[in-house]
Amino acid sequence: MNQRANQQPSRAAPQSWLGHRLEVFVEAIAHGGHCVARHDGRVIFVRHALPGERVLAEVTEDRGGSFCRADAVEIRTAAPDRVRRPCPYAHPGGCGGCDFQHVSLPGQRALKAAVVAEQLSRLAGLEWAVTVQPLDDGNGLGWRRRVRFAVGPGGELGLRAHRSHHVVPLSHCPIGAPGVGDARALRSDWPGLAELEVAVDDRGEVVELAHRERPARPRRTGDRGRRGGDRRSARPVLSTEQLSGPPALHYAVAGRRFTVHPAGFWQTHPRAAEVFTETVLRAAAPRPGERVLDLYAGSGLFTAALASAVTGTGSVLGLEAEAVAVTDAGHNLADQPWAGVRRATVSAETIRAATAELGSAEQDSAEPGGAERGRAAGVDIVVLDPPRSGAGREVLTAILAAAPRVVVYVACDPAALARDVRFAMDAGWRLDDLSAFDAFPMTHHVECVAVLRPGSGG
Ligand SMILES: C[S@@+](CC[C@H](N)C(=O)[O-])C[C@H]1O[C@@H](n2cnc3c(N)ncnc32)[C@H](O)[C@@H]1O
Repeated sequence: MNQRANQQPSRAAPQSWLGHRLEVFVEAIAHGGHCVARHDGRVIFVRHALPGERVLAEVTEDRGGSFCRADAVEIRTAAPDRVRRPCPYAHPGGCGGCDFQHVSLPGQRALKAAVVAEQLSRLAGLEWAVTVQPLDDGNGLGWRRRVRFAVGPGGELGLRAHRSHHVVPLSHCPIGAPGVGDARALRSDWPGLAELEVAVDDRGEVVELAHRERPARPRRTGDRGRRGGDRRSARPVLSTEQLSGPPALHYAVAGRRFTVHPAGFWQTHPRAAEVFTETVLRAAAPRPGERVLDLYAGSGLFTAALASAVTGTGSVLGLEAEAVAVTDAGHNLADQPWAGVRRATVSAETIRAATAELGSAEQDSAEPGGAERGRAAGVDIVVLDPPRSGAGREVLTAILAAAPRVVVYVACDPAALARDVRFAMDAGWRLDDLSAFDAFPMTHHVECVAVLRPGSGG
């Protein structure tokens, strides 16, 4: 049952633990919604458990090697934070959408804080006391304003089981907001669809989007084969069609109205857009006349708030890859001509070009002899809100090379954030502040806003 045995094919293959039931003591929480336990020299990642519990764990996945995965199927000694799950679908073998339905809300936030702190310690070498703040005083249900339901073999809507393609049929999703968790679409079958997405806006308008698998593109003769098969075929390419609802969703944040394409990105928790905007503004403290780069800008949520703060004497340039979001940003920023979102993939090259552009806009607008004349090329503030993969070393290096006075990093994956904080520290920057929010109750996900400043001092 050890790794060496795995590497020596002449020996008998180690016996899989799949299906075995093992009584284990549950140790710390790990990133991904599971806890760590140990048995016979191996690590077991146990879902549906809590640190400090003694549980009967059934192994659900064993690919050999140093670890396997299990579900806690019987709780022998329960932790104080254990509660009765409010969702009937959240149990071992059930829906994989949530990870922490069995945990009190304060307990969930403590687990997420421990994960963020552990990632910062392990990947950035920083010991940081993390607190995860709630976004509201609700019960953790009814918040999710966009859900992409999976479609089962008979056309039934549901969500996938954990690490599985199996679709667990649902009549409702308790974490879904009204109109989404109890979506009308859940009362029908959808044969032929791959997924059906439902979203709701501030006015309660609901959109339904159908995602269908596109027929595979025939391979041209001469296409180079790849070892291990064509990776594009691993995840089917989907086409999207709006089935119902208005042509745009509408949201309001701090008195500003935002238009968002039905398939476009918007923060899913009803309080998230406002709280994240306030946090970004507080961290960046933008001043009139400053130049700001807003990376991964979406439909201009932060761009608009930053533009209001720098006023028409400053400028804000957003970069965003999705065409629909860029079009939405055009509408959302129409009254702030000193701000804009450009369609671009964020890279070292596009950051350098954007920085040069902001610098030259500054020079054009500076009055001869004015106070701003002669200011170094570059930007004053960079805000970034990347997808789960984070920014990465190359992008981060380009951001720091633009010599901003502050970088505000909005992160939905603490591991990617911690890795990128390490890159920034290696370049002579420091983590100055970190806020963490429970923007996804009942799941293991957590949103962080990190503030990076030049210099290694405290
Ligand atoms: C987490 S969202 C943030 C959007 C915005 N800050 C907000 O809060 O509404 C991330 C955005 O980055 C965009 N995106 C993802 N990868 C990108 C890339 N490589 N270059 C540019 N934009 C990207 C996505 O389309 C999405 O709009």
